[in-house]
Amino acid sequence: MGLVTTEAMFARALNSDHAVGAFNVNNMEIIQGIVDAAGEEKAPLILQVSAGARKYAKPVYLLKLVEAAMEDTGLDICLHLDHGEDFDICKKCVDDGFTSVMIDGSRFDFEENIAVTKRVVEYAHAHGVVVEAELGRLAGIEDDVNVDARQATFTDPEEAAEFVQRTGVDSLAIAIGTSHGAYKFKGEPYLDFERLKTIHALIPDTPLVLHGASTVLPEFVAMCNEYGGDIPGAQGVPEHMILESAKYGVCKVNIDTDLRLAMTAEIRRYLKENPAEFDPRKYLGPARDAIKRMVQHKIRNVLNASGQA
Ligand code: G3H
Ligand code: 13P
Ligand code: ZN
Repeated sequence: MGLVTTEAMFARALNSDHAVGAFNVNNMEIIQGIVDAAGEEKAPLILQVSAGARKYAKPVYLLKLVEAAMEDTGLDICLHLDHGEDFDICKKCVDDGFTSVMIDGSRFDFEENIAVTKRVVEYAHAHGVVVEAELGRLAGIEDDVNVDARQATFTDPEEAAEFVQRTGVDSLAIAIGTSHGAYKFKGEPYLDFERLKTIHALIPDTPLVLHGASTVLPEFVAMCNEYGGDIPGAQGVPEHMILESAKYGVCKVNIDTDLRLAMTAEIRRYLKENPAEFDPRKYLGPARDAIKRMVQHKIRNVLNASGQA
């Protein structure tokens, strides 16, 4: 039991049809719901902390909660920095005990992205920590961006091979059509699987990472809308596409939006049906259960990861 890197879990996932879920954590109930699901499913687990999470909860609370989760469940957990924006935040997380950090240099040009990634890799590796980087940009669904313009932001396979070779990074987040949030596609969902296959063929030993990989479960969207929410047209990556991507090198699947939706849907339902109730435990408990059920569903049906820990 303890904090682990992604090394062993990615080695197992790389040439299999399963992927590891990387879940964003922001508070105790979210952590408990996720670890209970992963424990029951005997699934490998990455918990990741974003800039927003650090600001909301303070890093020390999240660290201690993850420590408590390991002690309580006996699970091995990888604690990962999500979208680290510069060297300093990556260094801070390495120093604080994270076992994996992401340096997100995707806003920089190719050479600058390589330079900052290399610097993080040198520091992290010297401390036994693994590094994820990002190449290409995750687009949104802006009206004025046509298909060609959108694809121009996708990861270039040749560049990906050069990037990995020159940085020594442990895993690479790629852009093939996913995006963050609950509104991923306007019309038919589309991921560029040909591009993914080419990338995987060029760097077969590099675990690939899919950001923006929530499936936006219709049951939770419907529940949110039924109980006073207003999120029409929310659409995620279809489950079969996540399963398919795991066959071509995708080892890490990032999930935040689905946690938010599960939690919010259940809280909305509870408060609407119990207007006289004001004990937070009464609605946060069911919200935690909803997260657990959702994560269990993911592990079984979308990540194929039951029994892979
Ligand atoms: O990558 C984005 C994640 O959903 C984290 O978002 O910074 O609002 O916590 P956040
Ligand atoms: P979603 O918004 O699809 O959950 O993606 C989360 C993510 O990529 C975190 O880095
Ligand atoms: Zn992301």
